[in-house]
Amino acid sequence: MSVVAAQSAGFCFGVKRAVNMAYECIASGRRAATLGELIHNPGVVDDLASRGVRVIGDISQAEPGETVIIRSHGVPKAVTDELEAGGMAYLDATCPFVARIHGIVAQRGEAGDVILLAGNPEHAEIKGIIGHCAGDVFVFRNAGELQKYLQETPNICKKCYTLVSQTTFLRSEWKNCVEFAKKVCTNLSVFDTICNDACIKQKEADKLSRECQRMVVVGGRSSSNTARLYETCAANCPTVLVERPEELYGFDWDGCEKVGVTAGASTPSGIIKEVLETMSEILDNKPEDEVSFQEMLDQSFKSALTGDKVTGVVIGIAPTEVSVNVGTKHTGYIPLHELTDDPTLKPEDIVKVGDELTLKVLRVNDVEGTMVLSKKKVDAEKNFQRVEDAAGTDDILDGVVVEVVKGGVIAVTDGIRVFIPASQATASRNEPLEDLLKKPVRFKILEVNPGRRRAIGSIRAVLSEERHAKEQEFWDTVEIGKHYTGKVKSITSYGAFVDLGGVDGMVHVSELSWMRVAHPSDIVKIGDELEVYVKDIDRENHKISLGYKKEEDNPWEILRRDYPVGTVVKVKIVSMTTFGAFASIIPGIDGLIHISQIAHERIAKPQDVLSVGQEVDAKITDIDFDKHRVSLSIKALLEPEEPAEEEQPEE
Ligand code: F3S
Repeated sequence: MSVVAAQSAGFCFGVKRAVNMAYECIASGRRAATLGELIHNPGVVDDLASRGVRVIGDISQAEPGETVIIRSHGVPKAVTDELEAGGMAYLDATCPFVARIHGIVAQRGEAGDVILLAGNPEHAEIKGIIGHCAGDVFVFRNAGELQKYLQETPNICKKCYTLVSQTTFLRSEWKNCVEFAKKVCTNLSVFDTICNDACIKQKEADKLSRECQRMVVVGGRSSSNTARLYETCAANCPTVLVERPEELYGFDWDGCEKVGVTAGASTPSGIIKEVLETMSEILDNKPEDEVSFQEMLDQSFKSALTGDKVTGVVIGIAPTEVSVNVGTKHTGYIPLHELTDDPTLKPEDIVKVGDELTLKVLRVNDVEGTMVLSKKKVDAEKNFQRVEDAAGTDDILDGVVVEVVKGGVIAVTDGIRVFIPASQATASRNEPLEDLLKKPVRFKILEVNPGRRRAIGSIRAVLSEERHAKEQEFWDTVEIGKHYTGKVKSITSYGAFVDLGGVDGMVHVSELSWMRVAHPSDIVKIGDELEVYVKDIDRENHKISLGYKKEEDNPWEILRRDYPVGTVVKVKIVSMTTFGAFASIIPGIDGLIHISQIAHERIAKPQDVLSVGQEVDAKITDIDFDKHRVSLSIKALLEPEEPAEEEQPEE
């Protein structure tokens, strides 16, 4: 049989603060009276009474010279107003989390909002909050009461509402309330004011009570958060609520393999320890966690210093901050700007409830019980370490260029700024740095100054490495006849150089076209994408000859296919000689119309009948594919000349 204590059991920050204030007050020699019982714990109240601290019902009962102590639940504003008006000495031990609710309801009420307040209307905290509402307020115990109220409210759409809760309100019921209110209220502001301490206690109690056969909840019967814990545990296993250890003897513990113990926020550690000892006696079994329990409590009161690194678990996510349990009585917050530098991300994109994070403490406020934390700074340290580790190695980092500065660019990798000198930013010196702006880049780290957290990188080192790798791959795979798509990089009078991806090849001018080409730029220009094939490889000198013109475009092949001997074509006279005229049949092929084939009659020269540019019909009479010659005849298409009529001899 074993006894397991919940880690979060016992005094919360607000209660501890109030108790400390009371003891410090009397230790300073002042007489004090608490406005109501300081905490819901008879043991503490009795102890304070034994030291002369009276409990008074209202301030009229305070005696002259007595300091009135306002407990952690807070009081209506009218009470502090009266204390001040009467010049009475008082100590305000209102828990800062309760005081935050006072501020919200006062401000939103003044703005005209109706305050929807989830909680027990009989509880002192709720009475105190109502006393700070500047306008209308409706208090409800559960989602059902809220639903009834809103459904019966006329003109609900025209009103503005602010929804808050008692700090110890049940988290699951709060969710139901928010869900319903969001459905029916058009103008609704929701403030999650449930105390993290209460949440953690409830969560832990829920988990522990599912694992145990019995639960013991230690706390005052009038304590609201103790009651919440009791409800949570009782839903999972038989549960007893005790104020004192002696009460444990009245229960039947037979058949319990594992008993869990938790305690409300106003239960001192001494009483919890006594409960554990008593349980041990009853079960004749030393509690498993007895020794460590006190340590755990002490641990829970520990603080942290600015600059410390702490481990925390995400317990809540709001649009502008993330709440974290850091294992102390402080409520840890990570403001959104300390979560990330990326303005496009929302907190829920980065963390989820239950995530364990390493965080840096930026500020601790022991009075308010808050701790401002940064995830970004821890990440930055971790990421700088990654940059530092990459220095001088072959590791390549990914980043984005965010700025062009004097002498180079700044690239950011995982939040770390790396300076890349102009000489290391591009593959060649004449490329403008502005072209890199906002572009993703890959770079190596050349050197790092950890003291100044500066790093220098090189994009060029990566580009050159990539180019070498591509070159190697090219030479490993290139073969004659292989086709590539490449870009024209440069043009000379004898050809065009094409980038094949790491290696340049040359298309000779004669390979650019089947026609006669005066200059390669007549056919291609720099930047053109060409489909080329490898004609020849000179591995020794790393030279590649490329072909570009295609066989199917060869005019002699077109002629063979489409213009057999005997075909009549329309041709254009392109030049003339003494022995005939040349005429273009198709682009790239001229045929000769011999002077004897121009007309039936005898002509002195072709110009007598034809002129350059003239289009005429001609018949293909012969093709010599080897010598690339075509013979044409106009005469073959003309009617044969009538023989001259012979003179008949007279009879
Ligand atoms: Fe304050 Fe939360 Fe305790 S609101 S009094 S720290 S339970």
